[in-house]
Amino acid sequence: MASLPSLVGFLLLGALLVSSTAQNMTPGMEAGEFLGLSEVMGALLDNPNWTQMHPHPCTHTPWPGIRCDVIHHGHDSLPILHVTKLHIGPDVANPPVCKTTAYLSASLLKLPHHNSLSIVGCFRMSRVFLPAPIFGSFSSLEQLVVKSNPGLYGEIPLTLADTTTLRVLSLSQNSLHGQVPKGLGRLRKLEQLDLSYNNLTGKIPQEIGGLKSLTILDMSYNGLQGRLPYSLGQLQTLQKIDLSHNRLVGRIPSVIGRLKQLVFLDLSHNNLTGPIPDTLSGLKRLEYLLVENNPLNTKLPWFMGTLVNLTVLSLSTCGLVGTIPPSFCWLDQLIVLYLDRNNLHGTVPPKLGALPNLCQLNLSQNQLSGELYFSSEFVQRLGKKLDASGNDGLCTGHQFNEQVSQYLGIPPCADQTAKSSNTSDHENSNPYWTDASNAIIKEPMLLYLICCNLIGFL
Ligand SMILES: *[C@@H]1O[C@H](CO)[C@@H](O)[C@H](O)[C@H]1NC(C)=O
Ligand SMILES: *[C@@H]1O[C@H](CO)[C@@H](O)[C@H](O)[C@H]1NC(C)=O
Ligand SMILES: *[C@@H]1O[C@H](CO)[C@@H](O)[C@H](O)[C@H]1NC(C)=O
Ligand SMILES: *[C@@H]1O[C@H](CO)[C@@H](O)[C@H](O)[C@H]1NC(C)=O
Ligand SMILES: *[C@@H]1O[C@H](CO)[C@@H](O)[C@H](O)[C@H]1NC(C)=O
Ligand SMILES: *[C@@H]1O[C@H](CO)[C@@H](O)[C@H](O)[C@H]1NC(C)=O
Repeated sequence: MASLPSLVGFLLLGALLVSSTAQNMTPGMEAGEFLGLSEVMGALLDNPNWTQMHPHPCTHTPWPGIRCDVIHHGHDSLPILHVTKLHIGPDVANPPVCKTTAYLSASLLKLPHHNSLSIVGCFRMSRVFLPAPIFGSFSSLEQLVVKSNPGLYGEIPLTLADTTTLRVLSLSQNSLHGQVPKGLGRLRKLEQLDLSYNNLTGKIPQEIGGLKSLTILDMSYNGLQGRLPYSLGQLQTLQKIDLSHNRLVGRIPSVIGRLKQLVFLDLSHNNLTGPIPDTLSGLKRLEYLLVENNPLNTKLPWFMGTLVNLTVLSLSTCGLVGTIPPSFCWLDQLIVLYLDRNNLHGTVPPKLGALPNLCQLNLSQNQLSGELYFSSEFVQRLGKKLDASGNDGLCTGHQFNEQVSQYLGIPPCADQTAKSSNTSDHENSNPYWTDASNAIIKEPMLLYLICCNLIGFL
């Protein structure tokens, strides 16, 4: 959508153009393009009078979802206004109502200069497909955002792979199925690829390594299978990877450690196995590492404590064994730490309770033991966000009274030796793989930061 100042700017320009050619009352727009625009809007909107109401959509009778730009065709000819952006969504002023039989008209081809097309929440009732012929090498489309359209079915058109001008491709929250086309790897200018919340299946193609400009890769909430492609390691500019909620198998590839710009990595709710590769120790910018609900069945590596930018670390239900490395106490930025439903044993490092920003700590359903040695200030700060229940060998120290220990659901260390640790693993008492979900994924940034009023200073 055009920002207001630029739109006003173009309206002024448009007025100049129209007045300078006032003798023949041209709308500042070619007749064929105006006709194409009318057909596109007619196919989408529940307003049969759109054309009559907006006879000069670039100038006198603008429509908020359209942006026009002046494009000069040679020195002699007059500059002409062309539609460059078309946006339909709930965020425009007086949101347009899409008709129940709305579809994407091939008349878009009559708008040769449009470089941004976004249609959000429009195709609801009807069963609509993305028309393959409107994309291809002739297109100058840089942004294609068609999302939150439950009525959008079919496969991702192969012609999109030839639209090499694309920088943003978002087809999120539709009902697309089929595979991720290999050809998409040819989109060398693509910076953002979002195919989340669809019904895509098959493997993530190796060809994805060709997306040399990619910063955001989101294919979460699909049915993608197979292993993570090694070619991921070639996407050196990636800052966010979200492949959560799929059916991916195999190991976390060590090449992910090459992605030095990575801030957000979500591989949760898949079928990935351990170990956690040492190479991840190079991801110094990483702030979000979400791996919960994967049968990693491995140890927590010591190096995780050196990822000092980590803010959210979630490894619930990963079949983790071994102890919590004391190095975790270096994670000064950590706000959320989820280690629940694993098979961790040994004591809880007391200095975890000294992490200055921590406000959610879930250690429940493990085999942790010994004295829980947190300050009462820490316990008060976290309140209900501290959960260490379901660890049979754990007891609370002398700094806590009976009430606190009842509140935490952990008995006091009455007789230190009687109740103290037996650090054997009870491998079979806790299922590695369950369907339990912590429901933290949809808007992770926001949900995580709501606690402890941290939003204010982040
Ligand atoms: C469309 O235009 C006709 C005549 O111009 C008018 O009678 C009718 O009310 C208009 N419909 C809408 C939805 O604006
Ligand atoms: C995905 O496919 C399944 C079965 O094929 C169907 O039940 C489900 O509604 C589909 N989901 C979407 C978002 O289209
Ligand atoms: C995970 O993989 C194992 C074997 O590799 C398989 O038995 C199991 O059904 C898979 N689970 C899911 C949720 O895909
Ligand atoms: C943490 O992230 C910031 C900003 O991305 C970066 O400047 C800093 O170098 C990172 N810390 C380390 C230890 O790399
Ligand atoms: C901690 O994890 C357990 C097990 O996954 C879960 O049942 C519980 O609700 C969590 N506690 C908090 C405070 O989130
Ligand atoms: C600890 O384990 C040993 C054997 O491994 C057993 O003999 C002992 O009774 C256990 N102690 C407690 C307190 O469970």
